[in-house]
Amino acid sequence: MSRITPPPTAQNDSACEIALVDALATDRLGKTLADMVGQRDVIALWGDLGAGKTSLARAIIQTLLAASGLREDVPSPTFTLVQTYEAGSLPIWHADLYRLSDPDELIELGLEEALEGGLLLIEWPDRMADELPAERLDIELKEVGDGRVACLTGRGASWEDRINRAQEKMLQNDT
Ligand SMILES: Nc1ncnc2c1ncn2[C@@H]1O[C@H](COP(=O)(O)OP(=O)(O)OP(=O)(O)O)[C@@H](O)[C@H]1O
Ligand SMILES: [Mg+2]
Repeated sequence: MSRITPPPTAQNDSACEIALVDALATDRLGKTLADMVGQRDVIALWGDLGAGKTSLARAIIQTLLAASGLREDVPSPTFTLVQTYEAGSLPIWHADLYRLSDPDELIELGLEEALEGGLLLIEWPDRMADELPAERLDIELKEVGDGRVACLTGRGASWEDRINRAQEKMLQNDT
């Protein structure tokens, strides 16, 4: 069985829940987060099959590309495992580790390089086991009715302020 939930919230973690009533709301969260992320940020996308992980990653990536005047398709990395992009000077790595059979294979994928200077977005982060960076933003997507709820948990001080700002921005858009 795949693990689709992040570890429990620990002391010093910051957390919030954001309702995503439809796919457009997922796009809006992606756009909001894109304004707040950069080099050496890691976002782990948790959730069941079809929860909306790729949709959210796509919105983040396409917003960052658009800021550099670029427009690219962002396919799911289901079979390639990793897709890379260059948003100006920011390398973006989008991984889907569902098909990773052993954390040892991570070396071949070169994710270490992403951690050095890029933005790393990871679907099925449970596959990284102990290799999953401790400092990261966990986003768990859960189906609720026809929509989704996103639970954001910032691991490490650098996320607290950003999570609060993201939640505020999303609430403003609701009204
Ligand atoms: N907030 C939302 N409300 C309803 N549907 C949504 C929402 N966000 C995304 N979706 C829809 O969910 C579907 C599945 O999305 P997506 O492919 O992103 O899931 P995934 O989590 O990446 O799945 P997988 O585990 O197979 O990679 C898409 O049709 C997408 O439009
Ligand atoms: Mg996906």
